Amino acid sequence: MRAGSGRADHPPAAGQQAGPAGSSPFAAARLVAWHGDLAAWVDQLGWLRTLSDRLTAVLGPVRERHRDNLAVELLHGGRWVGHPLHPALSDLPIGLWAGVMVLDVMDRDPAPRRGIDAAGKLSAAGILAAGATALTGLDDWAVSNDQDRRVGLFHGLLNTAALGLQGASLGTRLAGHRGTARALAAASLGVTAAAGYLGGHLVFTKGVMVSRVAWATGPRRWTRALQDADLPDDSPTAAEAEGRQIMLYRHSGTLYAIDNTCSHAGGLLSRGAVADLTVTCPLHGSRFALADGCISRGPASQPQPVLPTRIRNGWIEVRGSQPESRRPASGRTRP
Ligand code: FES
Repeated sequence: MRAGSGRADHPPAAGQQAGPAGSSPFAAARLVAWHGDLAAWVDQLGWLRTLSDRLTAVLGPVRERHRDNLAVELLHGGRWVGHPLHPALSDLPIGLWAGVMVLDVMDRDPAPRRGIDAAGKLSAAGILAAGATALTGLDDWAVSNDQDRRVGLFHGLLNTAALGLQGASLGTRLAGHRGTARALAAASLGVTAAAGYLGGHLVFTKGVMVSRVAWATGPRRWTRALQDADLPDDSPTAAEAEGRQIMLYRHSGTLYAIDNTCSHAGGLLSRGAVADLTVTCPLHGSRFALADGCISRGPASQPQPVLPTRIRNGWIEVRGSQPESRRPASGRTRP
């Protein structure tokens, strides 16, 4: 390639078509990489880092103080719902404000016949729903990891701007200025969509709020995890069996093995404290029973997998889930 020419010296290979300049593989690669670039750009905003750090410094200790509060846990959804609440609630303002847009497009009357029109009612309902959604989002944000917090904060700021625009739209609608109200409502929905996109990036690209033990299954056979002599009593100890991180614990001669990666956001349970056969995650304080992995305090929403153990030839062995038994098509087991 000649320097600065921007074109290859060689003709296209047999079977390839010479397309316009914008359809080169490099241009296509740039077209599909924009979302990664956008997230990286957001993550590097200096003022966002500062704001995120300051908010964390304020909210962190508050949440720490109230983490046994049931209302705080319910805002996550957690063990009571089995999923985080925030993504489900966020559908409400998006749907209601999309309804505002549809009604605004269909009804071109310059002023309502009397009182607030249907679009205004949907707008007001969406504002209420957005308030509840923001609370759950703030609760989740306070227990997210550092690198996700900045994109999460940008997502929250966009949603706050959308809420402000929708509030202004409702105000002008009530004052009888429907044209302005429609424009503000449309702008609000656009900003909400951008915020929703970043929310999707957090969940589907960064795995925020996705169970970290969803794919934890192995090892399929009894596998050595740790020499029996290396496990002291009443001391959480990290081990590994066929790549799976495990926390071992022995109390009064009984062995416990539990997945070491916290289902909430990947904290290492072996670094947490154990009391009454319950381990506390060192990152955000979720508590899991060692015997069955049940959650006794969130924010985790999925229990922690436990593994059966045995001691053979001086080694502690563990085993993960067994493959499901094969059944013939008739649904009856083979003799
Ligand atoms: S990583 Fe958040 S509670 Fe364990």
